[in-house]
Amino acid sequence: MSANPVKSMDEIMSLCKRRGFVYPASEIYGGINGFWDYGPLGAQLKKNLRDAWWQDVVMNPCWGRSGPDGNPVEIVPLDSCIIQNPKVWEASGHVGGFNDPMIDCRETKARYRADHVRAVSGKGKRHEAPVFAFIKDSPAEAKQRKAADKKFGDEQEEFDLIELGTDFAHVLGPDAKELGTLTPPRAFNLMFKTYIGATATEDDIAYLRPETAQGIFVHFKNVIDTTRVGVPFGIAQTGKAFRNEVTPRNFTFRSREFEQMEIEFFCHPDQAKDWYAFWRDWRMEWWKSLGLAGDNLILREHDRDELAHYAKEGAGTSDVEYRFPFTAPGFGELEGIAHRTDFDLRQHAEHSGLGDKLKYFDSTRGEPAPNGQPKGEKYFPHVIEPSAGLDRGVLAALCEAFTPDPERPSGVYMKFHPRLSPIKAAVFPLVKKDGMPEKAATLASALRKKFGHLGAIEMDEKQSIGKRYARMDEAGCPFCFTIDSDTLTDDTVTVRHRDTLAQERVAMDAVPAFLGEKLGV
Ligand code: GAP
Repeated sequence: MSANPVKSMDEIMSLCKRRGFVYPASEIYGGINGFWDYGPLGAQLKKNLRDAWWQDVVMNPCWGRSGPDGNPVEIVPLDSCIIQNPKVWEASGHVGGFNDPMIDCRETKARYRADHVRAVSGKGKRHEAPVFAFIKDSPAEAKQRKAADKKFGDEQEEFDLIELGTDFAHVLGPDAKELGTLTPPRAFNLMFKTYIGATATEDDIAYLRPETAQGIFVHFKNVIDTTRVGVPFGIAQTGKAFRNEVTPRNFTFRSREFEQMEIEFFCHPDQAKDWYAFWRDWRMEWWKSLGLAGDNLILREHDRDELAHYAKEGAGTSDVEYRFPFTAPGFGELEGIAHRTDFDLRQHAEHSGLGDKLKYFDSTRGEPAPNGQPKGEKYFPHVIEPSAGLDRGVLAALCEAFTPDPERPSGVYMKFHPRLSPIKAAVFPLVKKDGMPEKAATLASALRKKFGHLGAIEMDEKQSIGKRYARMDEAGCPFCFTIDSDTLTDDTVTVRHRDTLAQERVAMDAVPAFLGEKLGV
C-alpha cells in the first residue's frame, strides 16, 4: 500500500468543473452518458500532453536514444480518417469479435457489462439462497454487500457473476428489488454504426473507428513506397476513437468518445522481443518524465490468459498503469504495449487481396548473392504497439496534480509538471494604477511571443493579489510575476513559485530567460 493518501475523486471532479478543465458534454440538456468536453484549461492541458507525446515520439523519437539495434529510432506521422471502408474492421476482427458480454435488468432497464458484475452468496448455497450482485466500486455495491452481510454473516463467498453461467433465477440485480430479473450475458459489439450517403440501407453501414491503429496498418505500403523509411521504423498518430461502452464510468476514464496516441512499430520478427522490451521500458520512463512518478505508476506484464488474440503468439503485452483515486489501492490502464506479431498485416493482405504485395522487401537480409551482397528477404514485419489513451493521461495528470493544502486560501493547488501546465505564467499588476497595468501588459506580451505556443500567459488585474494567486494555484500555473511599486523604480518583479510559495525578485528583462529555463525550453 502506498504512502500516498487517496485523493477524493468528488473534489477533483468539482475542481475540474469549477475551473473549466472538464465539463459534462451537452450539459444544458442533461448531459450524455460517456461523453465529456474539455473547457479552456482542460483543452490546453490535453493539447500539452498530446504535444509532449508528438515531440518525444515523432519529432525527437525516444529523446534521441538508439534502439536495440544501435541505430536511432525512426518514426513518421500519419493522420487517417475516423471512418474507413468497413472491410477494414472485418479484416481487423472488430466486426466479428469486438464484443463485451452484456447483461440487462428487466426490472430497472439498467445495462451492465457482465465482467464488471460481481456477486456474493452464502458458501455452498449458490443456487438455493439469493445471490446479491453488484458493480464493483459503484454506489449499489455498499447496498448489496449490506444485504449479503445480513443474510450470510461471515459465511459468504464472492465470485464473478459470469462464473454462474446463465442461471440467474436466484440473482438479485445490482439495482433491483425482485429476484431473477437479469438476462443471461450476450455479446454486444462496441463499434458505433453510421450510414454513408442518403439511402441508409444495410449496404451503407460504416463504423466510427474503435482504435486509430488500423488506419496505420492499411497505409503500411503507402508509407514504405512514399518515404525513405525502412524496417525497423514506426508510424504514429493521435486521434479520436469511439466505443459504445456498455457501462461508461469513472469520469473520463471509460468514455464512449476518447482520443488515442498510438505507435505501430514495424520490425523483423527476430527483433520483436528486443523492440518490445525497448518500447515497454521507454514508455514507462516517458510517463514518469511528466510527473507521474513514485508508486502511483506501475508497469504490469499481462498474464498469458489476459492476452488479446493478436498478441497470443507474441513476446508479451504490458500496461503502464496509474493508481487513480477510484481504482486505489488498485491501478487503471494508461497505455498498453503489445507485440501484435504480423497479425494485422496478414489480415489486411488476405482481406484486401494484396497478399504478398503487402510484404516488406528487406534488402539488408537474406543469403549472400554471388556479388557478395545479401539477396534480400520478403516478410511480414512484426508490430510492437505502444497504445496510449490521451484522456486517461489527462485524468492521471489531473489526479496526480491535485494537492490539498489547507494553508492556502484556495485550499488546494494543481501541481502540474511545467510541461503540462495549461497556464505557463501569470503577470499581475499589484494595483490598477501608477502605470503598473501597462508594464504588466508589456511583460505579458513579451512572454506570449516567446512561450505562447506552449500554453497561456495570463494577465489579470482584477481582485486582490491573494485571490489572483489562489486562482492560479487552482489552475496549476507554476509562476506568477507581480509588478509592484518597486518595479517602477528598479524594474524588478516578484516571482511567486506555486509549489514552494517562495518569492524572489528578478529583473523584468530577465523574466523571459528565467521562465525559459524553468520550462526547459
Ligand atoms: N490499438 C490498441 C488499442 O486500442 P486498447 O487497450 O483497447 O488498445 C488503448 O486501448 C488505450 O486507449 C488504453 O490504454 C486506454 O488508455 C485508452 N482507452 C481505451 N478505451 C477507452 C475508453 N473507453 N475511454 C477512455 N480511454 C480508453
